[in-house]
Amino acid sequence: MSGNRLDGKIVIITGGASGIGAESVRLFTEHGARVVIVDVQDELGQNLAASIGGGKASYYHCDVTNETEVENAVKFTVHKHGKLDVLFSNAGVIEPFASILDLNLDELDRIFAVNLRGAAAFIKHAARAMVEKGTRGSIVCTTSVAAEISGTAPHGYTASKHGLLGLIKSASGGLGQYGIRVNGVAPFGVATPLVCNGFKIEANVVEENTLASANLKGIVLKARHVAEAALFLASDESAYVSGQNLAVDGGYSVVKP
Ligand SMILES: NC(=O)c1ccc[n+]([C@@H]2O[C@H](COP(=O)([O-])OP(=O)(O)OC[C@H]3O[C@@H](n4cnc5c(N)ncnc54)[C@H](O)[C@@H]3O)[C@@H](O)[C@H]2O)c1
Repeated sequence: MSGNRLDGKIVIITGGASGIGAESVRLFTEHGARVVIVDVQDELGQNLAASIGGGKASYYHCDVTNETEVENAVKFTVHKHGKLDVLFSNAGVIEPFASILDLNLDELDRIFAVNLRGAAAFIKHAARAMVEKGTRGSIVCTTSVAAEISGTAPHGYTASKHGLLGLIKSASGGLGQYGIRVNGVAPFGVATPLVCNGFKIEANVVEENTLASANLKGIVLKARHVAEAALFLASDESAYVSGQNLAVDGGYSVVKP
């Protein structure tokens, strides 16, 4: 379903070449946004931008762990489009499950560098651009059910997403005075490369597991459902919502399975 819920909005989507990010690129542009896809998977990102056409999406290579590249991605967007209305900070990585007794601290650093530090760098530079232009912007970050409960994901990932939720709350506090909102969108298991490749599980098994564990029955969680929630938080429909973490989990995090 297309519409005009993001008409005239300039959006950056990190991790936009694949999975939830790619679905959001498609949905946001259907709703009138101009999107800059930020990722390190250049071919995927460029092909996605080309498939959307009409100059609605462009691709910018940026590793979110590198602050200079993050700053340049924001500058590229403002130079190209004149402003920045929405940051969807969505890039993420995961590590294999392991016992806390065998926690690999180098891997923990790698996970934190993308999921937490990368989001922090983007929030900083996107918010600067919004403040400079006087834009009442919206910042949305992809958290996870693992941002509020444990046992669903590996330790480093769970800690990084808990940290990210803390950052969302803290940044929303600091940016409210500028009219900038900061929220999270918290998916349960979606069959994307992050999960399927990360845990070596077939897509249909991921979907069956999510369906079996969620309280809500009769619906299979897809990247599109997460993109729809992110669209709401990005749009002016959520104009008075800030500091929240919107679960897209079929009740998993609040109803005992
Ligand atoms: N799939 C799920 O079940 C699920 C559940 C909860 C939260 N999430 C979160 O959703 C977000 C999107 O993940 P997805 O499931 O769509 O997986 P995905 O692997 O399809 O997409 C993640 C994207 O992030 C990009 N990325 C990774 N490191 C990067 C870096 N250093 N710089 C720039 N881009 C980088 C990847 O290239 C990829 O395109 C992640 O933050 C993930 O933690 C996913």
